[in-house]
Amino acid sequence: MKTHLALTLLLCTTLTACKPNSDSSPDLLTESQIEQEIDDILPQLTLDEKIALIHAQSKFSSPGVARLGIPELWMSDGPHGVRAEICWDSWSYAGQTNDCVTAFPSLTALAATWSQSLATEYGAALGREARYRGKNVLLGPGVNICRTPLGGRNFEYMGEDPLLVAQTAVAYIEGLQGEGVAACVKHFALNNQEVDRCEIEVHVSDRTLREIYLPAFEASVRQAHVWSIMGAYNVYNGEHCCHNKKLNNILKGEWAFDGATITDWGGAHSTEQSIANGLDLEMGTYTNGLTSGKSFAYDNYYLAKPYRDAINEGRADMQTLDDKVRRVLRLNLRTHNRIGHGRVGSSDHSDIARRVAREGIVLLKNEAQTLPLDSQTTMRIAVVGENATRSMTRAGGSSELKPLYEVSPLEGIQKTFRNAQITYAMGYSSGKSSYGRVNEPTENQATLHAEAVDLAKQSDLVIFVGGLNKNHQQDCEAGDRISYKLPFGQEDLIKDIASANKNIIVVLLSGNAVEMKWEENVRATLMAWHLGSECGNAIADILSGRTCPSGKLPITFYEELTDCGAIAHGAESYPGAEKHQTYKEELLVGYRYTSTQNIRPHYPFGHGLSYTTFSLQNATVSNVASVNGAATIEVDVCNTGSREGAEVVQVYVGKKDSQVFRPTNELRGYQKVWLSPGETQRVCIAIPERRLAYWDEAKNDWHIEKGRYTAYIGTSVSDTPIEIDFEVR
Ligand code: BGC
Repeated sequence: MKTHLALTLLLCTTLTACKPNSDSSPDLLTESQIEQEIDDILPQLTLDEKIALIHAQSKFSSPGVARLGIPELWMSDGPHGVRAEICWDSWSYAGQTNDCVTAFPSLTALAATWSQSLATEYGAALGREARYRGKNVLLGPGVNICRTPLGGRNFEYMGEDPLLVAQTAVAYIEGLQGEGVAACVKHFALNNQEVDRCEIEVHVSDRTLREIYLPAFEASVRQAHVWSIMGAYNVYNGEHCCHNKKLNNILKGEWAFDGATITDWGGAHSTEQSIANGLDLEMGTYTNGLTSGKSFAYDNYYLAKPYRDAINEGRADMQTLDDKVRRVLRLNLRTHNRIGHGRVGSSDHSDIARRVAREGIVLLKNEAQTLPLDSQTTMRIAVVGENATRSMTRAGGSSELKPLYEVSPLEGIQKTFRNAQITYAMGYSSGKSSYGRVNEPTENQATLHAEAVDLAKQSDLVIFVGGLNKNHQQDCEAGDRISYKLPFGQEDLIKDIASANKNIIVVLLSGNAVEMKWEENVRATLMAWHLGSECGNAIADILSGRTCPSGKLPITFYEELTDCGAIAHGAESYPGAEKHQTYKEELLVGYRYTSTQNIRPHYPFGHGLSYTTFSLQNATVSNVASVNGAATIEVDVCNTGSREGAEVVQVYVGKKDSQVFRPTNELRGYQKVWLSPGETQRVCIAIPERRLAYWDEAKNDWHIEKGRYTAYIGTSVSDTPIEIDFEVR
């Protein structure tokens, strides 16, 4: 028997653990060597071995071929860190003590940095942690569009704009796969809500599908060359998305995806469709994700015995099976093609987590420059709110983590404002939660409320830390929110505290926008998402001004829930009726709806304040063929304030005389720039032609209209002081 290169490589790994990683290392297989390997392995495999390779052997692994030295394939959630070990056959945790990790900020926070370099660093750090934990595939990033602010999993996604999601995802995948760990971009496609997620059939126009819901997947495949992709639970075009003819034709036909498609856990429903429609690896059948698990008869999976029988009886061909095996082997070889072991919990990983966290925090409001606070202050500061001490990483569904450590907001504030007199009151309690169920809190809510208001009266400043949490029907898998308002009596509490003490700052930990009618009563507001291990440190960095805030909203904060296009169109649009829903708002998702309908949002997409000020000047537009650009926008950005800070220049484009309906303005380019006080930099943003194209349903292709377009340049979708026209010829 031939010794495989992959096996040789694995043996080398133990001997060369300290060698730095480098793609140019002569020890690594090239892509063409990987193909030769597969050519060599395939004919040696028996039918049983081929069938075994394409379905699970445990909750999170699929087998290799031991006699040929082909290792098992290990997968893990994802997407904010490497999940704790799960039992072989059940959803219970294995109870290991060596599976703690760095909890990185949620993907919404990452998107709010508007920084591709940070996303690459994030992906790479995650890749090293995954490698140390022996994982080949990290189940993320999640790139579904946040269609409504009620989405239970929006915190695992990257906001409402296809370009921002695509660019952040590409950078994350490049970082992760650069460490030899496969990304598994999910959930393909149209998984935009948790209500009825396993059965709902989504009806959407082709144009909307292409322009809003697919671009991030397309960029993951075509730009980042992602190695695996996870099908969604829901139904589209009459078939479940994990084995969907139309989606598969786009993915493997049009986009030439060469990786492996993996089911969501329990997302397969038919052997025939799985064979015919490009499903390569079946996981978690007989379960609905984490919510239930009846039995684990792996041999009865759709791609197990029923497939083998179909081959033996001549109902299925070997060529199709070989294609699936080839893709799974490719994933296997690509992810065993690395030297060194990675690492977990290193100081550089904490540093990356903290930088992402503090650059993701968005300063929404800062009346009379309440912030930053002097770190030497001797004030009496009351910290109020359950989220000041509650762990947010240990719940929320499949993305939950067992962190090595987690700095709470209260701890971060205590460590930073050492001379202040800091007291704490919980204010409200939300109870403990697990999938689909919340245990009522044991505390008396009226007492908690009164204690907090009392404490506020005796203090100079109140920092209220609230928002959503990872309870069922908050930011949590398997359920959407049932209200847009702040839950657990927080609105009344904020109002009562503000009547007792006007000096109040609110920090929201949440994966979603919330109704903000209470905000007129407070001085300053921070949107802090879910920030992982470094949560409290990052919040304190911003409160104290150690870091100048630079995060920008990747979602719209609607004044009213009905200002969201999907919701405005009624129940058939969201959450659906009788297991069907139609995306009636079509292209008008998020700010595309509010801008086009002239609705004023509470906070617009792209909004975020700073402790310094900026000006944008001398904008020009030109055509530069060498970067395949339809247009290149240049603009001077000047830091006109007195401290270092960052601005995100955002370019939205519209076409007033378009032959087809278009949203008023759509994000087509952006760039973040850090500047010292007084410094000016000329920022150059190229807009490739394809970003201006619309999907022509009649031609079933992209079409670029010639003529005049308008670029709206500024610092949020509602603040674009510069308008310039340009021509596409
Ligand atoms: C989720 C996926 C996750 C998988 C494995 C499913 O319920 O939808 O995102 O990766 O479970 O935990």
